Amino acid sequence: MAWKCEELGLEASLVDLVDSWRSRTAQPMIQLDLQGDLADISGTVAATAYRVARECLTNALRHSAAREIVLRIERRTGSENALLVRVEDDGGGDAAKVAQSAGFGLTGVSERVAATIPLAA
Ligand SMILES: Nc1ncnc2c1ncn2[C@@H]1O[C@H](COP(=O)(O)OP(=O)(O)OP(=O)(O)O)[C@@H](O)[C@H]1O
Ligand SMILES: [Mg+2]
Repeated sequence: MAWKCEELGLEASLVDLVDSWRSRTAQPMIQLDLQGDLADISGTVAATAYRVARECLTNALRHSAAREIVLRIERRTGSENALLVRVEDDGGGDAAKVAQSAGFGLTGVSERVAATIPLAA
């Protein structure tokens, strides 16, 4: 949630998100892999990154039979200046189901990402 990111910062919010899932379920194993300095990521970008991570993590827990989920948030600086959010699970999946789903989660993810101001002006 936006307020959570504003209060805690992106890194602590992600740690909190993963910790709360870990305390609810022993399986699958959830790994949080934070790379680079997230301290200056705030506002809309932080809120979008958090929401995307939360939706994809929830999807992996709900829709896959994963044994392991890796949530990787990577800050790339320099000319690339980007924030990568990657959620991988080893539970397999069915692309046809993604296309046919009546769910709003992934649509919301792409809309939010498209609407978020780029890190670099
Ligand atoms: N990690 C995943 N593994 C396997 N299937 C997935 C995964 N993530 C999404 N899917 C498939 O893609 C579909 C669409 O996901 P989406 O998040 O858009 O909707 P939802 O999760 O079903 O509903 P909502 O997000 O609105 O609560 C899911 O119903 C599921 O079939
Ligand atoms: Mg979903």
